[in-house]
Amino acid sequence: MEPILHEWGSLLLRWTHIIAGMAWIGSSFYFMHLDASLRQVPDIPAGKGGEAWEVHGGGFYQVKKYLVAPDFLPEHLTWHKWQSYATWITGFFLLIWIYYYQSSIYLIDPAVMELKPLVALLIGLGGLAAGWVAYDRLCRSKLGDTPAVVGAIVFAGVVLAAYLFQQVFSPRAAFIHTGALMATIMSANVFFVIIPNQHKVVAALKAGEVPDPYYGKTAKLRSGHNNYFTLPVVFLMISNHYPLTYSTPYAYVMVALALVAGTVIRYYYNERHAGRGDKAWCWLVAALCLAAGIVLSATTTPAGRAALGLPPLVSTALASSGPPVAVPEEVQNIVMGRCSMCHAAEPVYEGIVIAPRGVMLDTPEAIARNRHLILVQSALTHAMPPNNLTELSAEDRAMLKAWASGR
Ligand code: HEC
Repeated sequence: MEPILHEWGSLLLRWTHIIAGMAWIGSSFYFMHLDASLRQVPDIPAGKGGEAWEVHGGGFYQVKKYLVAPDFLPEHLTWHKWQSYATWITGFFLLIWIYYYQSSIYLIDPAVMELKPLVALLIGLGGLAAGWVAYDRLCRSKLGDTPAVVGAIVFAGVVLAAYLFQQVFSPRAAFIHTGALMATIMSANVFFVIIPNQHKVVAALKAGEVPDPYYGKTAKLRSGHNNYFTLPVVFLMISNHYPLTYSTPYAYVMVALALVAGTVIRYYYNERHAGRGDKAWCWLVAALCLAAGIVLSATTTPAGRAALGLPPLVSTALASSGPPVAVPEEVQNIVMGRCSMCHAAEPVYEGIVIAPRGVMLDTPEAIARNRHLILVQSALTHAMPPNNLTELSAEDRAMLKAWASGR
């Protein structure tokens, strides 16, 4: 029962996470676009806001922006914050549900570092917290006055974080933790800076005072970062399903490329919506980054090199230290005979160039590590082998089930 509940928990968390994320990114893109489409109107002084007309869903909208605030407090005020909080909360539980609960499958790779599950969890969560604190300090420092410098340091910081995560976690977990760090910064920006600043502005209005423009300015710096983080973060999140992106020793370079590509594409739209023209060079830069990413994965991942007929860059065999893993002979034979033609560092099955989903089943250690997945994919469900291509018999399935469920 437990593996089934775990699968469903994972699906439900992912479902809500994606929906909350869509709502958040959607509203964030909407407001960026709205900001960029504002035009001057007589009743709002220059530089203090503007007005935009929009058409949607059978009606016309007339939206006005007051910077920092109108001189009265409107009776009905809609806040936009729960999309962000819900995205972070569901993402956080998803991280725990998949990476910390099943840390031996997803988080800890003995070939990288032999960590105890609790230590790995502390490194992961500690890394997210430390990353946020460092970022927040940076934005509050004097450097915060020069957004370009802050931007460059943030970029270098994220790439450094990716590199550091790579030194302790499995390649896949290192990638997701880098994405999670960026997403944590985004949500924390909303929770600790943007929304509190809005509350201070509202409080000042209620007290009949003129709100301090400082609050608007710092919130703007943070929401600018959030805007440029959006595309790279989504890239890092979905890349988890594409081992070619993260299974290179230079995964941190892949992160840097995704950051640049995502940022310039956002920049292109920000400029275009603001009526400052089409900066076509942005697409050229993004295309070059993606091309570099493809070359990087082809020449430095085990699967890419095998496909090109190059010798492996680093040994893909697991470290031989630690106690030998007991996987019964029969189980090894079944998995080697029915699964490893696809699930290996160098798959031999026609048309499969990389171990699907990054799941390797070509050594006793790997089989033992993936025990839970084997149970779900080929015993509890018949998802694997796909369409039973390699003709796994009912008896063999029963054997896998008995072993994988520990009976
Ligand atoms: C013909 C090639 C092939 C064979 C043989 C094969 N698989 Fe797979 N496997 C795949 C593909 C393709 C995917 C990715 C499926 C997808 O994209 O949803 C996959 C995915 C998986 C996953 C990851 C599922 C997930 O979503 O996390 C596991 C675990 C797995 N296979 C286990 C097995 C086991 C166990 C066997 C042998 C009993 C097996 N596979 C045999 C091709 C194969």
